[in-house]
Amino acid sequence: MSLEVARERIDWARRHMPVLAALREKLEASRPFDGILIGICLHIEPKTAVLCSVLRAGGAELAITGSPGTTQDDVADTLASEGISVYGRAQDDAAAHAANIDKVMSHRPNMLLDNGADLAAIALERGVSILGGTEETTTGANRLREDLAGDVTFPILVINDSPLKAIVENQHGVGQTIVEGFMRTTNLLIPRRRFVVVGYGWCGRGVARYLKSFGGDVCAVELDAIRALEAALDGFAVRELEEALPWGDVFITVTGRPGILRREHFDTMRDGAILANAGHFSWEIELGELEPLAAGDGIERLELPNGNTLYRLARGEMLNLAGGGGNPVETMDLGLALQTMSLTRIARGAKDLIAGPQPVPDDINREVARRMLAALRA
Ligand SMILES: NC(=O)c1ccc[n+]([C@@H]2O[C@H](COP(=O)([O-])OP(=O)(O)OC[C@H]3O[C@@H](n4cnc5c(N)ncnc54)[C@H](O)[C@@H]3O)[C@@H](O)[C@H]2O)c1
Repeated sequence: MSLEVARERIDWARRHMPVLAALREKLEASRPFDGILIGICLHIEPKTAVLCSVLRAGGAELAITGSPGTTQDDVADTLASEGISVYGRAQDDAAAHAANIDKVMSHRPNMLLDNGADLAAIALERGVSILGGTEETTTGANRLREDLAGDVTFPILVINDSPLKAIVENQHGVGQTIVEGFMRTTNLLIPRRRFVVVGYGWCGRGVARYLKSFGGDVCAVELDAIRALEAALDGFAVRELEEALPWGDVFITVTGRPGILRREHFDTMRDGAILANAGHFSWEIELGELEPLAAGDGIERLELPNGNTLYRLARGEMLNLAGGGGNPVETMDLGLALQTMSLTRIARGAKDLIAGPQPVPDDINREVARRMLAALRA
């Protein structure tokens, strides 16, 4: 696609992001990011391009990479044409992604906007001095609080901890767009198809509810007893994974954890079963020794020794981003407004924040909620 078309798509997103538009006016006047370079790891797509223009209006210099499988090349080219340092192409695999993270860090950022804790992990490993940063997603928050626990030397506001992000983006945004990604990629009907949603957290409950509202026959697999109970009361069958394997037509992982569906699970699935992922990394579906064979746009075929064939969608990357347009514009207006206000808080007063991962301050949540509600009523 041409840069002109990409610019139109970015303008379309901008028109539907009123909360960010209002913040942009404030930042243009106050310039909180003058003299600051922000290293960014976030899906390179039109909504992120709108965020970049807002941060630049506030005085920031930017170096950005995306996540594997979700970069839109025309948007990357547009950002580069506007003088932003951009690293990332649609076909990047894990190795290319690691190299891109390295390139962003070579700009010696003062602040980080991270997605999956990839930038923070390298900054900490190399002892780079960072004023502070934000973390977008559940997977990154888990890494900061588990693998990197006690090691984080600068404040990181975890956008994912915000109840607003959980409700608006993870539940409604991911719910709607995973269904959209499934329909676009497969061209199949949802009513009466049997879906197994593995993980009934914020995203999983959205995916399950939107599938059900389209007429899908949905069951949930969930380790946490409280969430499993919630799934049952929401009207879903709750099954152990082993029970669900021979039942499901489509399996959607959304746990944020590795190795959820593995080689040993595949033999008990039905012939023709479809595997898809909504979690941050493709690691939720582990293929083992199986070699995926191209079987259509966004669809791969897996031939099992038992003679059955399984299908994997979007290379196991997030189906709503790799197989669709990503989360709805309005939900990302909210999420990226949380990002903008959190980064501004750090630029203005990092010394007032403790080191390590922490929730978005409540006053920011409330201001963004008020602004979004006003925009929805407008
Ligand atoms: N696709 C997108 O656009 C998008 C957007 C936001 C978040 N995410 C990603 O989605 C994933 C889930 O995020 P969330 O906010 O729903 O997290 P969450 O913590 O609210 O939910 C995850 C759920 O998975 C369950 N779980 C963990 N291991 C399991 C297992 N082996 N079997 C069954 N259930 C298991 C947990 O108990 C939890 O209830 C993360 O990787 C996150 O980064 C994706």
